[in-house]
Amino acid sequence: MTQDFNKTLINEPVSDETLEKSGDKVLDQELRPNNFEEYIGQEQIKNNLKILLTAAKERNHPPEHLLFYGPPGLGKTTMAHLIAKETGSQIKVTSGPVIERVGDLASVLTNLSPGDILFIDEIHRLNKTVEEVLYPAMESGQIDIIIGKGPSARTIQLDLPPFTLISATTRVAMISSPLRSRFSGGVFRLEFYTEKEIEKIISRSAKILNMNIDEGAMAEISKRSRSTPRTANYLLKRCRDYAQVLKKQLTKDVVEEALSLLSIDRRGLTAMDRSILSTIVEKYNGGPVGLGTIAASLSEDEATIEEFSEPYLIQLGFIERTPRGRVVTPQGYAHLGLDYPEEKQIKFA
Ligand SMILES: Nc1ncnc2c1ncn2[C@@H]1O[C@H](COP(=O)(O)OP(=O)(O)OP(=O)(O)O)[C@@H](O)[C@H]1O
Ligand SMILES: [Mg+2]
Repeated sequence: MTQDFNKTLINEPVSDETLEKSGDKVLDQELRPNNFEEYIGQEQIKNNLKILLTAAKERNHPPEHLLFYGPPGLGKTTMAHLIAKETGSQIKVTSGPVIERVGDLASVLTNLSPGDILFIDEIHRLNKTVEEVLYPAMESGQIDIIIGKGPSARTIQLDLPPFTLISATTRVAMISSPLRSRFSGGVFRLEFYTEKEIEKIISRSAKILNMNIDEGAMAEISKRSRSTPRTANYLLKRCRDYAQVLKKQLTKDVVEEALSLLSIDRRGLTAMDRSILSTIVEKYNGGPVGLGTIAASLSEDEATIEEFSEPYLIQLGFIERTPRGRVVTPQGYAHLGLDYPEEKQIKFA
């Protein structure tokens, strides 16, 4: 059991693919907010949580189960850690793909202490059999364990200590409704951040990193951060490297140079985002076209496009999702420097 337990609990929170590619896991940790005041934005979620946490404390009971969802890098994992700090609880971290078997989940659950927070990241990747064991655990704090095999097998019911499950996912549509409904504390969608909020995050990070950076430079990084704190921190660090190597002051112009070297444009689009737009426009006459077809044209993974690129392109209003597929909007055409085809104009008039 101990062995299983070690396998299923990860000390460091799992991070998203993009970040792993950029090798900036450490940066993610060192810049992570330590309390609700340092956690910029998401005001509505924070207000709801404060009430929920205070009420739970007054009743002397762990808070109810919570689910956070939204695109990568918006602060889901950070929020889970903050809740643990706020409630003074121990947090145990694991993730959907790591809990392969029912026994894995059973060992995680039975090793919890009263009042612990269990954080399951990427909960959409939990398989169905494991998910069914989770239901009674969440609802009534019990799990059924089958001991032995064949005719001599018997089921024993174990009572779990009171705990709070916090989960995160970038793909809420993949969560079954029975599972979703068991997050009795609430299901929260993290929103993209405003430019001002991202500026505040950059300013805080710059202080921690001991950087000398002017307001104009911060504003420029913010504009190109795809409304996402993780991207903001990543770009800030890339700009710092650039300025250091070229022995320049970090000004707006230097930010522009540094980020164009990374192929990040004025609105924060990466080369990948732009190829998605131009593929739909050039190969499929602006759409509608299915996600699978776009992915195949670009030899990219469908999930990566759907999780990372698409939400931001939709947020900018460059792409729309229709029942027949993805469509590039007039704004999307304009961003590529193209005229919107006349025969399409009536639709958006
Ligand atoms: N509201 C915020 N204020 C300040 N910094 C933030 C905020 N949200 C996120 N960050 C910063 O962005 C980084 C990424 O956030 P986090 O790891 O919580 O994202 P996530 O939503 O869990 O992403 P993923 O889906 O990839 O797991 C954090 O380490 C932190 O530095
Ligand atoms: Mg996370």
